[in-house]
This record gives sequence, structure tokens and C-alpha cells, in this order.
Amino acid sequence: MKSYFITGTDTDIGKTCVVAGLARSLKQNQINVGVMKPYASGSKKNTKFRSTDVEILVDAAQVNDPEELLNPYFFSIPASPFSAAKKLGVHIDNNIVLERFKKLQHLHDMMLVEGIGGVLTPILANYYVIDLIKDMNLETIIVTSSKIGTVNHTLMTCKMCEKYNVTVRGLIINDHEPGYNTSDLKQDFEDLTGISVLGIIPHIDPFNIEILSQILSKKIDLKSLIRF
Ligand SMILES: Nc1ncnc2c1ncn2[C@@H]1O[C@H](COP(=O)(O)OP(=O)(O)OP(=O)(O)O)[C@@H](O)[C@H]1O
Ligand SMILES: [Mg+2]
Repeated sequence: MKSYFITGTDTDIGKTCVVAGLARSLKQNQINVGVMKPYASGSKKNTKFRSTDVEILVDAAQVNDPEELLNPYFFSIPASPFSAAKKLGVHIDNNIVLERFKKLQHLHDMMLVEGIGGVLTPILANYYVIDLIKDMNLETIIVTSSKIGTVNHTLMTCKMCEKYNVTVRGLIINDHEPGYNTSDLKQDFEDLTGISVLGIIPHIDPFNIEILSQILSKKIDLKSLIRF
């Protein structure tokens, strides 16, 4: 089965929601799906895991993997790994991330990996999220929005993937905040990039992973996503 790296055109764009929603849908289809958030940052909440994203992903996928595999690096300040590690005096060894990803791959049939920020979020000097996607040897799914400005962000993200020879499996438009008409935007994205829009997620109020999972199951061809 195929595994995916879910990136986004920005922070707060809906990466965690998409990974959690997809994981829940796949799990309901009896797929042994694992999740990973290699690098996370933000204020530490009083939750089971240091990162709230990890908490959401684990809850959606119903996995029992140890936190050190699920989330090798957590930084308690909301910044890129590069900047946070510098401030906190942490040495980042990306090989640890790659080894732990391999371990999770052995435990699950399919992996969904959530990035941090966007493709050019720095992890080390001269090593960005896009390098990590490449080193993990994964195809990517890009979560984007319908907000004005999204075309620029989305095209830049797709161009970077092209430059790094990272295959983009598709785009997901998260219509969480008002902006463009989503059918026009879908057509524009497809015309401009040649990449398919896999689905459009509406604003869900109140937000709930179960509802998102049902929407994704209806709108996204899960069978084609898991195929080799
Ligand atoms: N379609 C939606 N309807 C309602 N709320 C949404 C929707 N999509 C995302 N949200 C909310 O927007 C916020 C940001 O989403 P999310 O945490 O998935 O973004 P992210 O890209 O993972 O952010 P980060 O860069 O911090 O990892 C969350 O509070 C989430 O519940
Ligand atoms: Mg997130």
C-alpha cells in the first residue's frame, strides 16, 4: 500500500484535520494505517502527548505506537525546527526521524505523515521539509485553502515539489475560510498545475473528525489512494 506525506501551503491550513480524517476513514475500511508527525512545535498542553497534533492523529488512527516513534522531535516554542532547535540548544539528527519512520512502516501497512508548516519550513540550515519528503521517499498530498492568495501559495508549493522531483498525488482544498468559489478554484489549480484536486472540504461547524471522515470517504477515492 502507498504511504503519503501530507504537507500544506501554510501553517493552520488543515494538515492535521486531513491526516486525522483520512486515517479514520482508512481505519474504518480495515486498513492498518499508522501516523507520524516527525517534527512538532508549539506550547506544550496538558495532554497525553507533548503535541496536540499527535494526540489528534493517534485518536483518529487508534494506534498504540510510542511517542518517540510518532513524534521524534517536539519543540516547546511555536517556531520552525531550525529556529526552535537553535533557541533551545537541541541538536537535530534527521537520521533518527528516518529510522523511526522505518520502524513505523514495519508496524503498519500504510503510513500518513504530517509535515510542519509548508515545504520550505527549515529543519536544518539547507534542509527543509521538502528534503524530508524526498528522504522519506514518499508521495505528497498538499492541503490548500480557498482564501484569496491561495493560488500563489499553491503554485509555489507545487513548483518546489517539481524542482525536488517529489510526486504530488493531489491537492485537497480546505474551504474552511471564505474565499474563492471552490469549483472555479479546482479548475484553475488543475489547469495551472496538471495535478488533480482530490477533494474539497467544507467548513464544518462544530468541527468533528467523524464528520470530516464521512465527508472524505464520500469525496475521495480511498481505493485509488491505497493502491500501489
Ligand atoms: N474544514 C474545517 N472546518 C472547520 N474547522 C477547521 C476545518 N479545517 C481546519 N479547521 C480548524 O482549523 C484549525 C487548523 O487546522 P489544523 O490544525 O488541521 O491545521 P494544520 O495545518 O495542521 O496546522 P499546523 O501547521 O499547526 O500543524 C484547527 O483548529 C481545525 O480544527
Ligand atoms: Mg497540524
